Amino acid sequence: MWTSRYAHRLSQGSRRFLSSASGENIKVTLFPGDGIGPEISSSVQKIFSVAQVPITWEAVDVTPVKSASGKFIIPPESLEPMRRTKIGLKGPLATPIGKGHQSLNLALRKAFSLYANVRPCKSVQGYSTAYDGVDIVTIRENTEGEYSGIEHEVVPGVVQSIKVITEIASNRVAKFAFDFARAQGRRKVTAVHKSNIMRMSDGLFLECCRKMSEQYPEIEFGEMYLDTLCMAMVRDPKQFDVLVLPNLYGDILSDLCAGLIGGLGLTPSGNIGANGVAIFEAVHGTAPDIAGQDKANPTALLLSGVMMLHHLRMHDIAQKIENAIFKTITDGKFLTGDLGGKATCSDYTKAICENLQI
Ligand code: IPM
Ligand code: MG
Repeated sequence: MWTSRYAHRLSQGSRRFLSSASGENIKVTLFPGDGIGPEISSSVQKIFSVAQVPITWEAVDVTPVKSASGKFIIPPESLEPMRRTKIGLKGPLATPIGKGHQSLNLALRKAFSLYANVRPCKSVQGYSTAYDGVDIVTIRENTEGEYSGIEHEVVPGVVQSIKVITEIASNRVAKFAFDFARAQGRRKVTAVHKSNIMRMSDGLFLECCRKMSEQYPEIEFGEMYLDTLCMAMVRDPKQFDVLVLPNLYGDILSDLCAGLIGGLGLTPSGNIGANGVAIFEAVHGTAPDIAGQDKANPTALLLSGVMMLHHLRMHDIAQKIENAIFKTITDGKFLTGDLGGKATCSDYTKAICENLQI
């Protein structure tokens, strides 16, 4: 059993990475992103280099370009490195609200069929919030639901947005959640839904989870309405373990869970596809108000990098970096503004590097 809080389920694909790790460095695509993205990415690179992580970064810029059809898209050549390396670490990418290009975050998930979005939220020792002992992992369906991108205007003033739920995608994310729970020795998987209202769509999702649960008799299965769960969660999050949810619910609830332990600056995430293809990313936004001022907290991207190292089976080095991060937070001397401190991103990075040497 892996001890780390961010240890990740192994897959066929990550075994492939292990074999290629024997001699040379593993190549990883780095999407530094927009706003605070470049600063927090440099912090990760610095810490990984001090920890002597045997990877080589291939940084790519995904600033959108106008395609022949007039739509803004990710420049096709910038997907090339990820196609080769199959593993990426990604900072935040700006998404214009309402108009302009579509979310590049979503476009990347789609381009590489990253169907399961894994977001662990565990109380951070040394950083207290109103809640202790939180240890929840949300597993969000990452390809469909309200995020299918099918919207149109029926007549002026009336628009439609289509929620797509398929048996294939529901089964595959349900299987992922149960496999994850099994691999991590977790006790319970709860399917979250609104099948009282979305009778067919959430009904299908729930049915797939129910059927899948039969193949994992050692794992307790629960089901809960999303609204009931939100209320129960803020009263006592300790009762929850692994949650599996359709896309939009997973987006919202994973932010709620992050809030319980200190916010989006502290929570990692991984988008996982078939054969070990994965992009690990910070879930927070680009924070344009503090961009370029050396004020950002790089922890979420760093911990996403730690998850990535577990995925690549570099458990020892991942554990070492994780220990240095949490020691720095527990010491409390070099915390960034979002955690109530005054340290710059560089100060915090330096403190983690020093704690790596211990
Ligand atoms: C997330 C983010 C994204 C999402 C945005 C940036 C498209 O909120 O990763 O949770 O809604 O999935
Ligand atoms: Mg979100």
